[in-house]
Amino acid sequence: SMMHSDVFHTELEVIHEIPLYRPFVEKWAQVESFQARPDDLLISTYPKSGTTWISEIVDMIYNNGDEEKCKRDAIFNRVPFMEMSCPGLLSGTEQLDTVPSHRTHLPVQLLPVSFWEQDCKMIYLARNAKDVAVSYYHFYQMAKMHPDPGTWDEFLGKFMAGKVAYGSWYDHVKGWWEKKKAYRILYMFYEDMKKDPKREIEKVLQFLGKDLKEEVVNKILHHTSFQEMKKNPTANYEMMPTWAMDHSVSPFMRKGMSGDWKNYFTVAQNEIFDAHYKEQMKGSTFKCQMEI
Ligand code: A3P
Repeated sequence: SMMHSDVFHTELEVIHEIPLYRPFVEKWAQVESFQARPDDLLISTYPKSGTTWISEIVDMIYNNGDEEKCKRDAIFNRVPFMEMSCPGLLSGTEQLDTVPSHRTHLPVQLLPVSFWEQDCKMIYLARNAKDVAVSYYHFYQMAKMHPDPGTWDEFLGKFMAGKVAYGSWYDHVKGWWEKKKAYRILYMFYEDMKKDPKREIEKVLQFLGKDLKEEVVNKILHHTSFQEMKKNPTANYEMMPTWAMDHSVSPFMRKGMSGDWKNYFTVAQNEIFDAHYKEQMKGSTFKCQMEI
């Protein structure tokens, strides 16, 4: 409808120097004052880093590998999106009371303080910047709330400058990387999950203090594979209204691989990106594989 397209194709608004969607900023007070409980689990990611994948794994763990229970609702309701606020969709803070785990894309400095005060367990999932940029470019086109991304070259420039929703990828991964020294944060990588998903699921189990039989772990592994999630309507975002996401432009479950950036970056773009990356990540011990 007109109302939805007006609300959704929105420019970004800056809050505490981070560009965010305007409808989120309007409800910011509710996010800021959110009261976490000590046993809440927070899943934190920069957009397009595998949020849905790790969320499905966590929900499967909470439900002891029962895939029927995990089909009870769409992933965005089972693991609600904390700062979500859009007319026509449930807001994240309205759903928070009823669930054990939440997800956010907020950089560390914007996370509601109660998560630190309550010393909640958190899982941070990082993905290499080049694949994130490519995935984000496609997402900007299919998820209708985003402003027009322009050409790939224009979008890449905005990504490098941190002028996309949630701001700088570099600051995001570095910010959470530093926080893990003092808080209960399991810091994971998309590339590790691609390489050895079973080992990574076992890390999550250990972090959550859960012990599941090998056959249950194998069920989780199967249910959360890209192929299975792509055809699962409760995981693939096809339950989102089409005015919010248009999968015919680009499916949410797009490729699910590492190194797809090679199909998009020109040699020149790659050189500029690498030099800028080095500058941005200078002084940080953060290391990430650009392909596997
Ligand atoms: P691509 O666009 O590169 O395919 P998020 O959930 O944070 O929005 O991230 C979406 C990205 O994760 C998409 O990347 C999507 O295909 C990928 N993804 C989702 N589920 C996955 C899975 N089970 N295995 C691998 N990649 C997955």
